[in-house]
Amino acid sequence: MPKIFRDPSFDSTLDVLREGYPFLYNRSQRFDSDIFQIRLMGLPAICLHGAEAAELFYNPKLFIRKGAVPRRVQTTLMGVDAIQTRDNGEHRCRKEMFMALMGPASRERLMSLLAGEWQRYAHRWEQLDKVVLFREAQEILCRAACAWAEVPLAEDEVSKRARDFGDMVDGFGGVGPRHWRGKQARSRGEKWMRSIIRAIRKGKLPVREGSPAHTVAWYRDADGELLDVQMAAIELLNATRPIVAIATYITFAALALHEHPAYRQLLRNPADDYAEVFVQEVRRYFPFTPFVGAIVREDFTWHGFQFPKGTMVLLDVYGTNRDERQWPDPEVFWPERFRQWQDNPYDFIPQGGGEYLTGHRCAGEWITIEAMKQAVAFLNDGIRYDVPAQDLYYDLTRMPTLPASGFVLTNVRATGKGA
Ligand code: HEM
Repeated sequence: MPKIFRDPSFDSTLDVLREGYPFLYNRSQRFDSDIFQIRLMGLPAICLHGAEAAELFYNPKLFIRKGAVPRRVQTTLMGVDAIQTRDNGEHRCRKEMFMALMGPASRERLMSLLAGEWQRYAHRWEQLDKVVLFREAQEILCRAACAWAEVPLAEDEVSKRARDFGDMVDGFGGVGPRHWRGKQARSRGEKWMRSIIRAIRKGKLPVREGSPAHTVAWYRDADGELLDVQMAAIELLNATRPIVAIATYITFAALALHEHPAYRQLLRNPADDYAEVFVQEVRRYFPFTPFVGAIVREDFTWHGFQFPKGTMVLLDVYGTNRDERQWPDPEVFWPERFRQWQDNPYDFIPQGGGEYLTGHRCAGEWITIEAMKQAVAFLNDGIRYDVPAQDLYYDLTRMPTLPASGFVLTNVRATGKGA
């Protein structure tokens, strides 16, 4: 049996929080291995890196998710006992509900709502001395996500709700005040969504059949029952909150345009869908999800390594997207690399890998890509702006991370084009 490398640290929980994104990647490089073991929260955990290991990880016959997501992540990012923690038929049934919201007509509706918001905000920005793109993008995405989902959002609620959606995401990798802010944001968000689910079920809030709010409120789980109000609220948040999180990728896309202005011209060529490879490279190059976890379903061996039932397994998302075997010169931002990419569901996994319906791959990946392409077109052609001196450093030890300034724009002029 081959020897599994073990990290010498007695317990790596604090090291993960201290080192951040490169924690697993650093060790897979140090051990020169796609598999190694650490101790996490007092228990052994097997760590996997690279496309072949991702294919193993995304085999639902080998792993379950129940028990894999730490409570601190459930109480901030995704909600307790949500779809991310479900397995087998129960997961499949709920995933069908989410995927039913991701069809072409539904996505087109969201993009058209977003396009209107970008244009409206562009005119507002003309009156302002400076604009923090990340915060503004959060509001734009929040308005469009709520309108798309048919979740009522009063004008005076917009900034608070947008901030809360953002804090739920920001809280997952934080300790102390950041984590508490995330938890409080989630409590407020769930309370808000519970009132919406109740109003829909009582017939007090009319929503269109097929809209996300209607679909979640009337969805029947694998057991044929409506979701309880709290679970429906959590899943309605899971259909809206991550749309606001696209602000992170949009901010990184703005940074990429700023640091590599040569791509601006390539993005304008109508004969070439350059935006596609550009946003894929943004999702590969810039950090967002550090890793994902699962639990071994039954004992098995892989390449001679034993996976005992019940063991925690972590897949290195950040490092797999910069694995030199698939991504030469991974630290170079180079969109053209995606021209050769074969759409392999395991070597590029910024939003998870494998299958959508039978696995846990992100339900909102198509929306994310389309919203990013639209935002890139808007930043490239919809507005003209200056980028003043500011702190654009993003700290890899902070999860999630972002350019420190949030990407400040000044002297914004709307062109009426783009988006
Ligand atoms: C799952 C990332 C946007 C809805 C996931 C997973 C990741 C992820 C890493 C888990 C994969 C796994 O467990 O193996 C992201 C990132 C996004 C994004 C980085 C960009 C901002 C979205 C959007 C939506 C969405 C826009 C919906 C509107 C979901 C849902 C799941 C999920 C429902 C659970 C899937 C399941 O457990 O089967 N996402 N996501 N996400 N995402 Fe996203």
